[in-house]
Amino acid sequence: MEYFASSDIPAVLEYTKNFYFLDDNEFSVIEKDNISFFNKKLNIIYKNYKTIDLNYSSSTKNGYDNFMLKEIFEQPRAIIDTIDKYISSENQRSQWCNSQVGIDENNNSTILNYPSIFNKQFAFPDFDLTKDDLIIIRQIYIVACGTAMHAGLVGKNIIEKLCKIPTYVEIASEFRYQDPIINENTLCIFISQSGETADTIAALKLAKGMGCKTIAITNVIGSSITREAHFSFYTYAGPEISVASTKAYTCQIALICCFAIYMAQILESSNYSILEEFRKELLSLPEKIHAILQNQEKIKDIAKQCYLQKDLFFLGRGIDYSVSLEGSLKLKEISYIHSEAYAAGELKHGPIALIENGVYVVGILTDTKLTLKTISNLQEVISRGAKTFVITNQKLPNINFDFVFTIPKTNVFLSPILSVIPLQLFSYYIAKEKGLDIDKPRNLAKSVTVE
Ligand code: G6P
Repeated sequence: MEYFASSDIPAVLEYTKNFYFLDDNEFSVIEKDNISFFNKKLNIIYKNYKTIDLNYSSSTKNGYDNFMLKEIFEQPRAIIDTIDKYISSENQRSQWCNSQVGIDENNNSTILNYPSIFNKQFAFPDFDLTKDDLIIIRQIYIVACGTAMHAGLVGKNIIEKLCKIPTYVEIASEFRYQDPIINENTLCIFISQSGETADTIAALKLAKGMGCKTIAITNVIGSSITREAHFSFYTYAGPEISVASTKAYTCQIALICCFAIYMAQILESSNYSILEEFRKELLSLPEKIHAILQNQEKIKDIAKQCYLQKDLFFLGRGIDYSVSLEGSLKLKEISYIHSEAYAAGELKHGPIALIENGVYVVGILTDTKLTLKTISNLQEVISRGAKTFVITNQKLPNINFDFVFTIPKTNVFLSPILSVIPLQLFSYYIAKEKGLDIDKPRNLAKSVTVE
């Protein structure tokens, strides 16, 4: 018998799938053939191990140069795995699981071949709030840090659209020191890939203490956040090793969408055809991500032309602004290029003063209602000498953008799951050109367990 002590599951997945989880103020004594657990009063406590259903290969690079690239390419599979866990019928689930999505190690691409089944119903069996419990919810807070907070910004739009409940997104380190108006009519959702982020956990404890119901969305089974929240929903992205988060972001949005559809059904807050449209689009996303990934060479070429930039700007409106924030964060994290994301309409209120000859501006244009507005902002930067890289799902008017990258169409509320893919690749290939340590960027940590 062997025992290992580790602070993270992937570190020892090569040797075991059975894990004991220690809570705060607990410790264990490991002897040659025995393990025992104690609380802080030195009383013995009994624990059962949990079997973690992850492959060792999911925590290796599997032929990729970096974990980040591998994790970007894993997104179709990760989204399928996440959605699949929240599909109600065993029958439907097995059809979905019989699909084949994997990594082709020879050409770094994803093989995708699964049946298109668009009649799935979502279920959250551990979430035992009834219609009577949900109908009294007057507001929802989504609280998180970094990329998880950006996923929350997209989730807010989806929840408000489908469930018609006002939803506010808060940065955990701010929320925990505010005096939020929370009571039993509030639902608080905390998102954390690692489930260990100190600010997010502190915010959760604060909210719980004020009497609301709490949900944790995390990628790590048994993580601290799951021991605090009333309900825990897992993304099944597999271990995310690269410090810069990629597959967790898209899976968090996919999961929130499943949950919003589920709640909307209970609340009867959206009509059937709207929910069907969301469900159908959600299930088509893995294939669309796959199509984008097949086009990665184009992004690589664009990255080669701007990796020496000192500053880069991201512009978008509405949901495209939310994803601009994530694109800008990704770039900062791994390429160390200064970048800012602005709501395109705010350009004229200050940021335009920063635009000068040769500066790069990335525009995201996936919301047809807002396309012409954002185009007019991009024309303003072009006329001041900026170079433009546009990510869109539409045929655009004939404007002299320097680069245009086209992504498949989808429901506008889900478009960040697609538009973020070229943004992730863009940051990745810029950092690669600069020869940086992509998986372990300077000054950053994967789990921020201190304030
Ligand atoms: C760190 C990471 C970020 C991540 C954030 C939140 O700062 O560098 O990439 O988005 O923590 O992490 P969490 O595990 O709570 O999602």
